[in-house]
Amino acid sequence: MAPVVVKKICCIGAGYVGGPTCAVIPNIQVTIVDLNKARIDAWNSDNLPIYEPGLDEVVKEARGRNLFFSTDVDKAIEEADLIFVSVNTPTKKSGIGAGFAADLNYLQLATRRIAEVSTSSKIVVEKSTVPCRTADAMRTILEANSKPGCTFDILSNPEFLAEGTAIADLFNPDRVLIGSLQTESGLSACGSLAAVYSNWVKKDQILTVGLWSSELSKLAANAMLAQRISSVNALSAICEATGANIDEVAYAVGKDTRVGPKFLKASVGFGGSCFQKDILNLVYLSESLHLPHVAKYWRAVVEMNEYQKDRFAHKVVETLFNTITGKKIAMLGWAFKKDTGDTRESPAISIANHFLSEKARITIYDPQVGEDQIWLDLTDYGAIPAEPIKPNVSIQKSAEDACKGAEAIVVCTEWDEFKTLDWEKIYANCPRPAFVFDGRLMLDRKKLQKIGFTVVTIGTGDRV
Ligand code: UDX
Ligand code: ADP
Repeated sequence: MAPVVVKKICCIGAGYVGGPTCAVIPNIQVTIVDLNKARIDAWNSDNLPIYEPGLDEVVKEARGRNLFFSTDVDKAIEEADLIFVSVNTPTKKSGIGAGFAADLNYLQLATRRIAEVSTSSKIVVEKSTVPCRTADAMRTILEANSKPGCTFDILSNPEFLAEGTAIADLFNPDRVLIGSLQTESGLSACGSLAAVYSNWVKKDQILTVGLWSSELSKLAANAMLAQRISSVNALSAICEATGANIDEVAYAVGKDTRVGPKFLKASVGFGGSCFQKDILNLVYLSESLHLPHVAKYWRAVVEMNEYQKDRFAHKVVETLFNTITGKKIAMLGWAFKKDTGDTRESPAISIANHFLSEKARITIYDPQVGEDQIWLDLTDYGAIPAEPIKPNVSIQKSAEDACKGAEAIVVCTEWDEFKTLDWEKIYANCPRPAFVFDGRLMLDRKKLQKIGFTVVTIGTGDRV
């Protein structure tokens, strides 16, 4: 069975994954659709809905040529040979598996729509991160709702891009993973998608595996990356207590080629839309499979992350002589990492909540996150009333303004610009003693100490 040549692609979901992923596809007509009109309007404007270095240029070049953004979901489905399903799969907030399992409602609604609208056979590709064996449920929905003569091949093609480096990751991926059923038509569909990628990815980087391995690999990759961070963060607590330095320890450990140097940067904790969600998903999967020891193992990775965020916030309180009530604390950075405006699960949110519960006054600055988003995060998207905290929160347009008069400056995100701030001027505008808490091990500790700051750095002991 010769693979179908893909001429038109539809991507359902114009989010952080769907947008950039499909924007880089050359030579094939791609229509990215979303129910959210404001989002589509933004993709069609000069003000894209997400910030990602290099994305503006890629979209400007392809939009109107082979790349289209639309709210006409049905038309794009109908016309496409291949459909990426790239909708959100957040952690369930209620019902069975609440707090752990993925909410597959959006995915199932999109799948149902594909079946109802299609009048020809399609290749349907899971792009969203999903629990193992989700493709089974998709197949059942597609087969139960399809028109006569329409068949669907389901592929798993998880996305490994990291925010902030998405465009570079997409143009030059470590690997592209495609999972399919090992049947004749499954393998043929796999060949069709591999041919799409072969427009810009080398053949030996396109890995083809079974459907369930592909689904699980995405969860496994994120869990293992997060596990490295929790491991190094656990060690950072030991460093602080002993006088060791976590950067030196991580460097020494990472020089072992079996370990490798990447993803060993201690921090205030990992954030982002994937790590916690995917690990909890893995925990839920393990429990469902009656593997409690496995569940416990992965759960500890998230628990260590929570501990790290709490530990850092406690350290600030403890260092400020055990009370921050009424004290002004500047928070530098709100995004979950640098070079993105995304704040999902950002450690800064937990830390801010901690400070506010201690009745501190906080000023926040982030170069990419807007004031509205910060308020949404502080109020858990409106679930918590804003009024009581309003007098204690101010959002500033520059780091210098945020730091003015602050008794403590807390670095939550590793934005490059924080390295080159005029720290002497900042110090001149702070009451004494002036504290800097470096939650990202990014500042020149000695220089700041020389200026007069008391510096507390994650994973760095005070004992020499
Ligand atoms: C992650 C995976 O890297 C990516 O492959 C997957 O597709 C989606 O999830 P992302 O969440 O965008 O990507 O960013 P990532 O660079 O992995 O960082 C996640 C969090 O870990 C951030 O909060 C980051 O600051 C933190 N981190 C990362 C550390 O604390 N230390 C490190 O060494 C690396
Ligand atoms: P991700 O980070 O996984 O890309 P996002 O939340 O950024 O997640 O994006 C997912 C997008 O999918 C949202 O813009 C949402 O409106 C869209 N979406 C969800 N369900 C559907 C659907 N049935 N049809 C079209 N778009 C959908």
